[in-house]
Amino acid sequence: PDEIAVGELASRLKKTGAEVVRQLIKLGVMASVSDVIDYDTAALVAMELGAKVTKEVVVTIEERLIDVSADSEADLVPRSPVVVVMGHVDHGKTSLLDAIRKSDVVSGEAGGITQHIGAYRVQIKGKPITFLDTPGHEAFTSMRARGAMVTDIAILVVAADDGIMPQTVEAINHAKAANIPIIVAINKMDKPGANPERIKQQLTEYGLVSEEWGGETIICPISAKLHQGLDSLLEAVVLTAEMRELKANPKRAAQGTVIEARLDKGRGPVTTVLVQNGTLKQGDVIIAGKAVGRVRAMTDDKGEKLTQAGPSVPVEIIGMSEVPGAGDLFYAVADERMARELVMQRKEEEKAAASAPSHKVTLEDLFSQI
Ligand code: GTP
Ligand code: MG
Repeated sequence: PDEIAVGELASRLKKTGAEVVRQLIKLGVMASVSDVIDYDTAALVAMELGAKVTKEVVVTIEERLIDVSADSEADLVPRSPVVVVMGHVDHGKTSLLDAIRKSDVVSGEAGGITQHIGAYRVQIKGKPITFLDTPGHEAFTSMRARGAMVTDIAILVVAADDGIMPQTVEAINHAKAANIPIIVAINKMDKPGANPERIKQQLTEYGLVSEEWGGETIICPISAKLHQGLDSLLEAVVLTAEMRELKANPKRAAQGTVIEARLDKGRGPVTTVLVQNGTLKQGDVIIAGKAVGRVRAMTDDKGEKLTQAGPSVPVEIIGMSEVPGAGDLFYAVADERMARELVMQRKEEEKAAASAPSHKVTLEDLFSQI
């Protein structure tokens, strides 16, 4: 997403809509609180209002909707953690989740390779935790980045017989960029070549120093295959989550992120979303990127029908007019007509942007010219 509503920007900046509108007028932009502005303008406004915000930061804030500064303290209640499982291909991420869920997703995967983000809700000692499984194959960088952006905690899976590999490093970087704590699971401890000490040593090079060596990183040796070490790992997840005191306001209109979306022949667009704040209800009108629609039906990760989904809950919904983009933000809105107008406007802006010659020079452009 490359735009933000003025009202939304105001609440992110803890300013009134009027203050932001005034600032926009100074910049020569005529916009009301309900209008949508692009990030360059948003970043300028933010800076003018004394917030240290770069374009990247604004995008990051927009993507991490768990920002609850707009909700009054009285409405905030604890929410369950969302945990992303990341790591190099074949290091055992899906196997770990299978072990936690007592399921068998791995054997159903083509070539044993995960190619999408799986979202699961599991009860751990009576408390729900949402887990996102991500692919380790190098081709899926954006999925991993997205996975890290919408979550609270990362479990980094490292195979004990293989060690730190390129996508392990990438995963560490995504988690750091998203500013979420990393818990390391050294997997495949049952293998003869397992060498956890070597991995702990390697991890220090990336700033992940084990607690037993005086650092702050929780490192759990496990075997997903033999279901060993899972209790300590899950305990670490629960403890880390408790320390973060995660909260949300279930009373407000839902907002969150599209995890993935596809077109189903019979049902039309099928969209998996993670509700990050508010409560999504059957019948709600939602807008996601350039797609708009009414939630006709919702199902959870077990295929059970739901009529509402609160914060941290992943749900599959049908009823969108078209397939939204993975990573798009979604909002439940009160006015369907307005939502459709906004979507039309977004589409027109995109068309205009596509036909206009681009003057933007990115860092990549600069480097590729050298
Ligand atoms: P991608 O999603 O493609 O990145 O792979 P993944 O990280 O999800 O790995 P997956 O769970 O598919 O496991 C890869 C292979 O490692 C499978 O053959 C698993 O059976 C095996 N494996 C996973 N965990 C263990 C373990 O603890 N011990 C042993 N010996 N094998 C394991
Ligand atoms: Mg997998």
